[in-house]
Amino acid sequence: MTTLRLGDTAPDFTQDSTAGPISFHKWAGDSWVVLFSHPADFTPVCTTELGKTAALSGDFAKRGAKAIAVSVDPLDSHEKWISDINETQNTTVNFPILADADKKVATLYDMIHPNSLANATVRSVFIIDPKKVIRATITYPASTGRNFDEILRVIDSLQLTDNYKVATPVNWKDGDDVVIVPSIQDPAELAQRFPKGFKAVKPYLRMTPQPNK
Ligand code: BEZ
Repeated sequence: MTTLRLGDTAPDFTQDSTAGPISFHKWAGDSWVVLFSHPADFTPVCTTELGKTAALSGDFAKRGAKAIAVSVDPLDSHEKWISDINETQNTTVNFPILADADKKVATLYDMIHPNSLANATVRSVFIIDPKKVIRATITYPASTGRNFDEILRVIDSLQLTDNYKVATPVNWKDGDDVVIVPSIQDPAELAQRFPKGFKAVKPYLRMTPQPNK
């Protein structure tokens, strides 16, 4: 296990899942991927998280993104639990859950933090781009369910800032004004890149309408 950092290549693996054996990089294909761990099957917070992920499947697809969950429970447990998720969260789980009983993926991605939770994965999130580069990570404790709207928001920011010389400010959401990266200073380039104009609140703080809206 090595420490995984932003900009690193997401390690490849093969593992069983509720959608059959998965070869991770091949499964990811050209998509953005949200690989996220949860502590255990048949637990309340995890049930709500996986239900919400299923409910947001259209929102993931719109962004060219796919979700894949992992916990150290075996396949038969995942399969039984999916019925409960579908029933209680009024949804259909339509993404794979890795059956990581041998902790292969959990170890590779350092998802077990024994001083927080013994022998089970904490709530890790890896946002991985189509080149298999880790672009964002989020880690929550078992007691705090994640905000999957935030995960979509991060994907929106990454996809926007990959394509335009902007960054997204505090609490930004798709459609809000963005900031121009400080490295762009040439007036001609500013005019060409930001035809809608910009407001220089400070020389380093320049707000502009979201360029792709
Ligand atoms: C839960 O998903 O509800 C949960 C899992 C492990 C510890 C605490 C809560």
